[in-house]
Amino acid sequence: MGQETPKAKHARNDSLVVIDNRTGKQYSVPITHNSVPATFFKFIRAPAGPDDRPEDEAERGLRVADRGFLNTAVIESAITYIDGERGILRYRGYPIEQLAEKSTFLECAYLLIYGALPARSQLSHFEREVLLHGIMHADATKFFGSFRYDAHPMAMLTSAFAYLGSYYGEANPSLQGQTLFTKCAKGDPEALQNMDKQIYRLIGKAITLAAMAYRVRQGREFVVPPTGMSYAESFLYQLDHLSPTDSFSASSSASPSPSPYKPHPVLARALDILFILHADHEMNASSTTVLQTGSSLPDPYSAVAAGCASLYGPLHGGANEAVIRMLVSIGSPNNVPTFLAAVKRREKVLSGFGHRVYKTSDPRSFIIRKIADEVFAVTGPDPLLDTAMALHDAALKDDYFVSRKLAPNVDFWSGLIYRAMGFPMDFFPVLFVVPRIVGWVAHWRQMMLSPEGVKIWRPRQIYVGPSERSYVPFDEREAVQGPGKEPSIVIHSG
Ligand code: ACO
Repeated sequence: MGQETPKAKHARNDSLVVIDNRTGKQYSVPITHNSVPATFFKFIRAPAGPDDRPEDEAERGLRVADRGFLNTAVIESAITYIDGERGILRYRGYPIEQLAEKSTFLECAYLLIYGALPARSQLSHFEREVLLHGIMHADATKFFGSFRYDAHPMAMLTSAFAYLGSYYGEANPSLQGQTLFTKCAKGDPEALQNMDKQIYRLIGKAITLAAMAYRVRQGREFVVPPTGMSYAESFLYQLDHLSPTDSFSASSSASPSPSPYKPHPVLARALDILFILHADHEMNASSTTVLQTGSSLPDPYSAVAAGCASLYGPLHGGANEAVIRMLVSIGSPNNVPTFLAAVKRREKVLSGFGHRVYKTSDPRSFIIRKIADEVFAVTGPDPLLDTAMALHDAALKDDYFVSRKLAPNVDFWSGLIYRAMGFPMDFFPVLFVVPRIVGWVAHWRQMMLSPEGVKIWRPRQIYVGPSERSYVPFDEREAVQGPGKEPSIVIHSG
């Protein structure tokens, strides 16, 4: 009763009728998965009108304009689903709330990459391979040593992934042939093995490289990844372990064995959950960048380096760092109204608020609030918490933010947790990159395994520049002057 019969379902005409008023022609555009193919619009052509420029190319087909990808689906994906209106996030169908409560980061990584929750033996195999591949060649010491003492860790990490690619010629389609990874789509076992090895390396070495970027600035020796620890524990160990030649270990123990450092279980689990929450987020800016870069078939290390660069920006993964800088600049709850007034005048940005997809709430922000309390119970609360709460509460009551559907995103709280755990502010985006590598490789692998093959991501543009004009000799030119219209005069220091 009340159920749609299969016949009624088929009776529906899943198409869009478009009339081109320039020509009076009518087109029927197929609708699949509630989307229309942009390529179809290429067939809608018209003779150039009186207002058309030759560069509009009206005779060559209609283009679909979408500045900033506001409503363009660039891929079919089976990995992550977000319902931004209802505040839903699911990895391979599993709600993020359940995964954060019951799963571990490496189990979620398996799920995101291979598509199903693993059997116990499958998970053990995957964990072993990932953790085994954490060790970096000793040469990397020289690489990290070449950075300035105050280099931003993201500059180091971004470069480190491109550098890592130089170790593995067998993972480079430029050297091995461009079907190196795309032949995985045909089930070629050797190709799949090669691909999986790079995946283990990328995830395994992410924490090692991140820890190296952290320790090099402190002038501390690098730590060999430990055995017998979880991913998050291994990361904390590599960050904070005092190596045998560090003064504490050397003086406190007669034996040269490593110091008995063990990450705090509450902090290790909190980091593991934070990693789960950050592992994937469908077509965000950095995943799109990884796919865009990957579409020209470079090695996956180069694609991941591109993803790092994209994530680093304050509108994306750099927002956690920006939130703390913002809270420090606000200073106290009393200054919140003045700050929000400046945001409304568009003089300041309320970092950690707003999202391209979430328009009610970011489900990760509720989970993260809970983790914050657990972490603060161990570390003590962050002194910025009062300002953060005052800002949060005031913004959620203010019509400016409510009417624009601006709610706190994951970055509003994550920075406070990282700060309480003792991470330096500029390390926060690194803590986002480490888990997001899983999402990037899951999307990259899905693209390589696509039965239709990989299409290079080459978008269109709408050209609004000058039409053809002839070269003007120096003596006949009139110089175009003004700010932004000519190269600036810069001050030379030193
Ligand atoms: N503070 C004040 N106003 C904002 C904010 C904000 N944080 N975010 C959006 N708005 C306003 C815009 O000015 C715009 O107002 P208008 O319609 O009057 O011009 C309206 O809300 C719609 O915003 P858009 O800029 O169109 O939203 P978009 O989807 O392009 O941008 C973004 C999303 C980049 C996340 C934006 O909300 C932002 O800059 N937030 C702050 C940075 C941040 O927290 N980034 C982390 C995102 S989550 C992540 O990457 C993990």
